[in-house]
Amino acid sequence: MRARAIALVLLFATAPVAQAPTDLAPVMQRCSEAVDAIDRALAARDRKALAAPVAALATACKELPNSPAGIAAAASITAAATDLLRPIGDGAASDAHDLARLRAACTHCHLHTRRDNDSRGLFPNRGGAAFGTVTLRERDGAARTDAGGVVVFVEGSGVAANPPPRNPVIAQRGRRFEPAVLVVPPGTTVEFPNDDVVFHNVFSLSRGNAFDLGTYGKGAAKQRTFATPGLCKVHCNIHADMAASVLVLPTPWHAVTAADGTWSLPDLPAGTFTLRVWHPLADEQKHRLEVVADRATAVDLQVQESKPRAPHTDKNGRAYPEKY
Ligand code: HEC
Repeated sequence: MRARAIALVLLFATAPVAQAPTDLAPVMQRCSEAVDAIDRALAARDRKALAAPVAALATACKELPNSPAGIAAAASITAAATDLLRPIGDGAASDAHDLARLRAACTHCHLHTRRDNDSRGLFPNRGGAAFGTVTLRERDGAARTDAGGVVVFVEGSGVAANPPPRNPVIAQRGRRFEPAVLVVPPGTTVEFPNDDVVFHNVFSLSRGNAFDLGTYGKGAAKQRTFATPGLCKVHCNIHADMAASVLVLPTPWHAVTAADGTWSLPDLPAGTFTLRVWHPLADEQKHRLEVVADRATAVDLQVQESKPRAPHTDKNGRAYPEKY
């Protein structure tokens, strides 16, 4: 009997503790205090006071549920908070944008955890919102397990209300562009670091945003400012299968779906809008969106890939060699 009791104690003592907490309230409390402290430090322009709450937030994020959604949320919250520590390189970038991005990452999880407005009373949501899940289907109709990279946006001309972000990054990593889809307001400078051991040559022939960064190797980074609204298709002149899309949109209300297809647009003003949906291989969709103050509207979307992957030339308009 005694031996069994000791064995039980040992069993409990060695049981893994990495399970998702059932009650998130204490973690949320710490998340909320950290975000408030970040807000105060930014308002006081006290950059030294930022480091501690950003670190506290990263620690709190480690206790979010160990689910794909929890892991993705922790990554986007930590990335947005860490970006606030980056110096503001040019006058156009803003803390306000990255703080809004941080809060949006919190709200994204809250909206998707409690889809019904009435059960969401606890959450710190402000303003109206739209959110939902995209089901992305291949040409044969099969649902893709990775439904990331679909852009959902609301038409509007409120750029002035949304200052540009710190220079967003599209890395060249594992012979791919990461992320492969980026939405920026006009005038945003994007960094293109090469994290690969091989050389790359990032370029675009898209009208209005054509550019050529030339060939550069590991550790180097070049920049490009995207001035003209529209789609900029980005490729590598050395590796034909590398492709990214930069969507330059004069609207502050845009989202790119996560791998699980979820998207959210927090802080929308009340009113009637056109919700647009974009994916490189699908026909564009437009939906009427009714936003009511302090309520979130759920819009689940079906996106069907219908176009073949378009062939493209190298930067000189020639076909790529068979082997590269
Ligand atoms: C992985 C999903 C998820 C993320 C990410 C998340 N939350 Fe929460 N949050 C929840 C859930 C679930 C609850 C409700 C907790 C409960 O019912 O016990 C909650 C509740 C809250 C509450 C109310 C707590 C209370 O005691 O009533 C606050 C405040 C809060 N979250 C702040 C934040 C902040 C700030 C962030 C971002 C730094 C954040 N949350 C990120 C899931 C999340």
